[in-house]
Amino acid sequence: MKRVLVTGTAGFIGFHLAKLLLSEGFQVHGYDGMTDYYDVTLKQRRHQMLLQTPGFTATEDLLENHDRLMQVADEFQPEIIVHLAAQAGVRYSLENPRSYIDSNVVGTFNVMEVARQHKVDHLLMASTSSVYGANEEMPFTEVEKADTQLTIYAATKKANEAMGHSYAHLWDLPTTMFRFFTVYGTWGRPDLALYKFVDAILDGRPIDIYNHGDMYRDFTNVDDLVRGIRLLVDVPPVRPASADEIEDGDSLSPVAPYRVVNIGNGDKVRLMDFVEAIEAAVGKEAIRNYMPMQMGDVPATWANTDLLQRLTGYRPQTDFKDGIAEFVDWFRDYHGK
Ligand SMILES: NC(=O)c1ccc[n+]([C@@H]2O[C@H](COP(=O)([O-])OP(=O)(O)OC[C@H]3O[C@@H](n4cnc5c(N)ncnc54)[C@H](O)[C@@H]3O)[C@@H](O)[C@H]2O)c1
Repeated sequence: MKRVLVTGTAGFIGFHLAKLLLSEGFQVHGYDGMTDYYDVTLKQRRHQMLLQTPGFTATEDLLENHDRLMQVADEFQPEIIVHLAAQAGVRYSLENPRSYIDSNVVGTFNVMEVARQHKVDHLLMASTSSVYGANEEMPFTEVEKADTQLTIYAATKKANEAMGHSYAHLWDLPTTMFRFFTVYGTWGRPDLALYKFVDAILDGRPIDIYNHGDMYRDFTNVDDLVRGIRLLVDVPPVRPASADEIEDGDSLSPVAPYRVVNIGNGDKVRLMDFVEAIEAAVGKEAIRNYMPMQMGDVPATWANTDLLQRLTGYRPQTDFKDGIAEFVDWFRDYHGK
């Protein structure tokens, strides 16, 4: 089975992806710097679980350490690279923008260099729905212009897309960029709304509801998301002979084996419906603290997932109420609450 180098395996999405790949018999090497952006114990627990699975090995180091990353690749000889490690989080990018430049711009460049030198079959890298920025036309489609990023987080991810395109073009490196939409699920991130809300409701603390609740998100269940990534691994973009070959709605570049693909649920959920589903799953009402819109935030996201379906025959469909109930069960079990 193929060897896949996955960055960010101690993180939320990387952990779930590694589990899925290992269950299918892939050999996976995880690379993660265990940064302290949120509780490192949670990251260690995720990695410990993976390390109990045959086929998984790991290195703990930063992406910025180019020599180490290259040494790991020289030893492991990856055929596929899935690059998920990043400084994530929209809000934190107002507080500590430099960490986004270091991890996302420098770090991603180092991963691309490894992919180029090892001539991998397919490089797949995480971007975000935040690159759609101030776009108002919804649902968001990959072929639309996305030039109005509102935060440094989004700007570094847009930069990654441009960097990825150049290497795909120059070195004939098949590259897929994913745009993920608000991912949630078990083993989730403590800085994201679902985790924070469940924690606060169980403790009887108020929850902050931004833009007075007038917000919409395309919430994507992590199991669905990693299924989408897994299927895209098998669909490396092929450089078209001419632009005429590109079908309508396909984001394939006319000059490179390069494509951007949304992975979302294809549905926009009202924040207050999300909160009510959490209350129902927890069995307790939230104390609601209505707040204005946060700087750099957007009122709505909503993915067009036609391209994902066309390429893989798959589109995420988990109902957010089922996904929330599953998360609450995990949270209670994990924290003994
Ligand atoms: N979760 C979401 O809703 C969402 C939405 C859109 C895009 N994304 C993107 O998906 C990817 C995975 O996100 P996640 O939710 O799993 O986040 P996460 O923070 O849980 O995982 C990222 C992992 O990368 C590691 N990391 C960070 N900087 C590093 C560095 N410089 N060197 C080495 N390792 C480093 C961290 O230790 C962490 O374990 C990220 O690229 C993120 O930007 C996530």
